[in-house]
Amino acid sequence: MKAVVAFSGGLDTSTIVVLLRKKYEAEVITVTVDVGQEEDLLGVEEWAYKLGANKHYLIDSKEEFAEEYIFRAIKANALYEGKYPLGSALARPLIAKKVAEVAIKEGADVVAHGCTSKGNDQVRFDLTLRAYLKPDIKVIAPIRELGLSRAKSLEILKQYGFEPRGAHKKYSIDENLWSRSIEGGELDNPLIEPTEEAFSWTTSPESAPDKPLYVEVEFKEGVPVAVNGDRLSPASLVMKLNKLIGLQGFGRIDFIESRVVGLKSREVYEAPAALALIESHKDLERMVLTPRELRLKNHLDELWADLVYQGLWIDPLREHIEVAINSMNKNVTGVVKLKVYKGGLRVVGRDSPYSLYSQHVIDYDKGWYPSDCEARGFITIHGLYALTAQSVRSRRGS
Ligand code: ARG
Repeated sequence: MKAVVAFSGGLDTSTIVVLLRKKYEAEVITVTVDVGQEEDLLGVEEWAYKLGANKHYLIDSKEEFAEEYIFRAIKANALYEGKYPLGSALARPLIAKKVAEVAIKEGADVVAHGCTSKGNDQVRFDLTLRAYLKPDIKVIAPIRELGLSRAKSLEILKQYGFEPRGAHKKYSIDENLWSRSIEGGELDNPLIEPTEEAFSWTTSPESAPDKPLYVEVEFKEGVPVAVNGDRLSPASLVMKLNKLIGLQGFGRIDFIESRVVGLKSREVYEAPAALALIESHKDLERMVLTPRELRLKNHLDELWADLVYQGLWIDPLREHIEVAINSMNKNVTGVVKLKVYKGGLRVVGRDSPYSLYSQHVIDYDKGWYPSDCEARGFITIHGLYALTAQSVRSRRGS
């Protein structure tokens, strides 16, 4: 049997490699996709071989992740339940695509991922892998299948003589360019405030610099292209903003999230660039879109985020929604000025060549005014239904 394993180097995927090698005597190919996790990826490769992998692939997909996944999320202002910028949810379909490509090229019999039965990622991996693989390659989830707890996985690794990397870690972390999620440990008690050790991308607001930071983000057709005048590649732009804005103590999220699998969970995230870019993008949209466009787009944005969260990246509806989102985003060009200070972030300025706002028109002294007659006519007709209903119903009595 030839198995391809979506390999992070964590406890679960390490256990899978060992089981497949030692217990099932499979040929094992590990694949690690670099989506911007701050991890020693050469160390992960070394670890894969140490566990017995026959071959390892390290695939750098940072730019593809930023351009094809994160930038779509920016155009859709994607925040699941108004809070979560979808880092893990966006990365899964891309990881699945890369892993599937290797599996097809290598002629694998099965593809394995390390998800358990309790989380969202199993849904995302299973569905996208099935979509990208040929039907004769099976998708398996050994941790889920064998019902292995973390303790049991640890035991298995130890039994085969391995001391797992990072098994001492207090939390379950998933990280990529777009967000870092921190789950488990004392955070499972939703009443307990996360301590500083949970965070690594953001300075605590209390110890952030005493001086506000101004950042100017330039957008072209709905996607960011420059920061403070520097043109940057998609991934570099996101990484730069994570650093700059994280240092100011901005980007922490803490909320009760509704998982796909019927459970509420307490989720803590760091996502400085994501929150800053979505806030900026929304602000610019308010300047360039008509109110009705904005209203429709709010609905579409919410639908888009929901599909992605639910693991339905491959649902054709996503692409239909994107047609409308992209069409409106043609106008989202311009600059947004942000002020970031001690954990807070505000948009304090914006400009666009496609602005529907006119300072000249709005000016109270020098600006344009509709005539009294125009205004009266408009108001009469605007309120006609309401006024009619008022008078008809007052005759009816209570
Ligand atoms: N709750 C988030 C989501 O469903 C984060 C998942 C993190 N994944 C993980 N394997 N730790 O997208």
